[in-house]
Amino acid sequence: MSTTEQTYIMVKPDGVQRGLVGEIIARFEKRGFKLVALKMFTPSKELLEKHYADLKEKSFFPRLVAYMLSGPVVGMVWEGLDAVKTGRAMLGATNPLASAPGTIRGDYALQVGMNVCHGSDAVETAQHEIGLWFGGEVNQYKLSRQEWIYE
Ligand code: PPS
Repeated sequence: MSTTEQTYIMVKPDGVQRGLVGEIIARFEKRGFKLVALKMFTPSKELLEKHYADLKEKSFFPRLVAYMLSGPVVGMVWEGLDAVKTGRAMLGATNPLASAPGTIRGDYALQVGMNVCHGSDAVETAQHEIGLWFGGEVNQYKLSRQEWIYE
């Protein structure tokens, strides 16, 4: 069943450095999603350790955290029908070797260590991540173009 959801999408430091923020925002806007929160900042180590808590036993964890600390990220909350699943599809597979052309990673990334962006992998994860990065604070407003997107 399709539901209106919110997902947490984050442009990682490599995406910011390469000037891909506008491109990623444009893809989500054009697809029909509504931007309800956005901020740019360099995350703290503590926040990253919470965000990636399920990966802390992985050998790449210290490298992942160091990379995420290397510069500002752009965190966003996007809302719309099946936002979590569709957002992940738009990002493409985590490892750019497996991500299809036409996806963000399939078009802009070559290695899993620098894969441009993050997207929540489940509705519950999205709620947790939105709480972590935005304190749960998102904007509520109506977009008139939604009437031309949803039947
Ligand atoms: S996923 O998407 O959760 O199913 O994928 P997973 O493989 O579990 O990866 C989770 C995040 O870890 C990052 N990752 C890595 N970073 C550095 N080096 C290596 N080898 C590596 N493998 C995975 C991956 O980019 C995912 O980051 P996010 O920010 O969640 O997309």
